[in-house]
Amino acid sequence: MTTLKRILKEISLALRGKPDPRDLYVAARDLGVMHLNIKHFGYHLARQLEGKLQGVDCASEPQQHNLVSKATTQDDMESAWFAYWCKQLKIAPIYHRKLWEYAFLLQCLHDQGLLREGVKAMGFGCGEEPMASYFASHGMDVLVTDLDPVQVAGKGWAETQQHAKSIEMAFRADLVSREVFDAKVKHQFVDMNAIPNQPSNFDMCWSICAMEHLGNIELGLSFVENSLKVLKPGGIAIHTTEFNYLSDNDTRESGETVLFLRKHFEALAQRLAASGHELLGPDFSTGTGVLDDFIDVPPYGYETKGWLINDQTPHMRSKFPAHLKLSVAGYASTCFGLIVRKRKT
Ligand SMILES: C[S@@+](CC[C@H](N)C(=O)[O-])C[C@H]1O[C@@H](n2cnc3c(N)ncnc32)[C@H](O)[C@@H]1O
Repeated sequence: MTTLKRILKEISLALRGKPDPRDLYVAARDLGVMHLNIKHFGYHLARQLEGKLQGVDCASEPQQHNLVSKATTQDDMESAWFAYWCKQLKIAPIYHRKLWEYAFLLQCLHDQGLLREGVKAMGFGCGEEPMASYFASHGMDVLVTDLDPVQVAGKGWAETQQHAKSIEMAFRADLVSREVFDAKVKHQFVDMNAIPNQPSNFDMCWSICAMEHLGNIELGLSFVENSLKVLKPGGIAIHTTEFNYLSDNDTRESGETVLFLRKHFEALAQRLAASGHELLGPDFSTGTGVLDDFIDVPPYGYETKGWLINDQTPHMRSKFPAHLKLSVAGYASTCFGLIVRKRKT
């Protein structure tokens, strides 16, 4: 019998046969110890594998990889493309899925030939991402958007440095000069659940870790479809979100954070295809590395923005456990990147 089953049996016995609160207390202590063990393993694994990340041969020029819609994997994080984009963003590579989201977006843009001067890009739910600064440094014109501060109050995004209340939140002095940034980047409040009608003149649009916060599964999927209306024909939308990869049916369907299932992405692919759009891929494999089997548990470190480790803060590396897969309200989740090509006519 597994330890968890034994604990559950003890709890049910305690509740039915002999309602002695001490039994429950002992069982709960065991759960606490298991929790601690998981955290210890996460830190240990990340430290053990750190050298592997440092040793990746980082190409001097970006390469073509033709990524499709996919989940975060250890293999990706040990790839030359991941190392390349971390270096470009001046972020030290660590096994953290947030960095995968950044690198995935940049690699997709490069694959699609959209990381270049004159490209017009619109971001949704941008928070304090470095993306707009990086795009501007390539001569791209960028519209950074986020939810109005009145609507965002109480949701925790502003408190955890994850809300773009002004254009300043998008400025990264180490990536772009102030002059270029001011010339290339604009800011607007946009509700992802009510994208205003505006000219469809963007070559690409993106969101990172935002469409799972729109209220329910259907609102998230509708957002992906609606985001296409800001694009020119043939434009590309790239959105990363939560993927509950161990379940077929049971998930968080509504609330502050929802978790998408494979069937939701498959349904989205069909809806998009019915309107002449294309979801590239999707590839649902979640990897075969040891970190692909490791599910991190709370508390997580990124609330303090600590995953943005740079040359000045190398000591922070050891403060983060492996964090590719994690428990969100008891469901195993990882990131999934969606790449959609709008129909050409
Ligand atoms: C987890 S944060 C991610 C921030 C940023 N994209 C990043 O990766 O660091 C979620 C973001 O979604 C935004 N958001 C939540 N609901 C939104 C809505 N209805 N419309 C626009 N943005 C929304 C929040 O304000 C916040 O910026």
